[in-house]
Amino acid sequence: MKVSASFLSSSNIPRDLKKLNETDVDFIHVDIMDGKFVPNKTMPFSEMKNIYKFTDKRLDVHLMVEDPKKYIPLYAELNTEYITFHVEVMDEVEECLELIKSFGIKCGLAIKPDTPVKSLVPYLPIIDMILVMSVEPGKGGQSFIASSKEKIDEVRDLLDSYNSHVMISVDGGITNTTKDMCSKCDILVAGSYIINSESFQDRIDSLR
Ligand code: DX5
Ligand code: ZN
Repeated sequence: MKVSASFLSSSNIPRDLKKLNETDVDFIHVDIMDGKFVPNKTMPFSEMKNIYKFTDKRLDVHLMVEDPKKYIPLYAELNTEYITFHVEVMDEVEECLELIKSFGIKCGLAIKPDTPVKSLVPYLPIIDMILVMSVEPGKGGQSFIASSKEKIDEVRDLLDSYNSHVMISVDGGITNTTKDMCSKCDILVAGSYIINSESFQDRIDSLR
């Protein structure tokens, strides 16, 4: 299992990014919020950009924004492996996916807990990753929604039926207990479980 660490709940981002850099975590998950798609707002890119001095891990960018195309060129400048945005934005989904790919970056689509899996079907030939939200997007430290297990299994069945190699990532409320409901995914995104601990590496090991 791959692990992507979210620092959304960190009270000292430079310190925690440096600590994560000393672990074998696969990706740093970067949550971007615009105050519209979700109520909270992250700091502007001009400040966010400086944070990446503290890590040389590949970034897994999660855009919780209404207008992904405003953010894609900015985050494409960084050491980015994936840029993911929400299928619920509805407008210009295909254009945004192609824009991400035009930078040579892998593209993903995220789905909120109440969004049906079938909304992803038109984009399966284009995407590299599906990010299943196991909490309502917008803040860290929430509890895993148990019905996400069926959702992950449904996404896995859908991908199998298309013989697709798209990765499945699960984001929200991930711990060493809830990970058992995510056995069919490829990447676990964990925030507070890692950040609010003494040993980041022990927590990462417990998710593998
Ligand atoms: C929630 C974010 C998550 C969040 C995960 O909207 O997308 O990435 O930071 O944090 P935990 O693991 O604390 O639920
Ligand atoms: Zn996220």
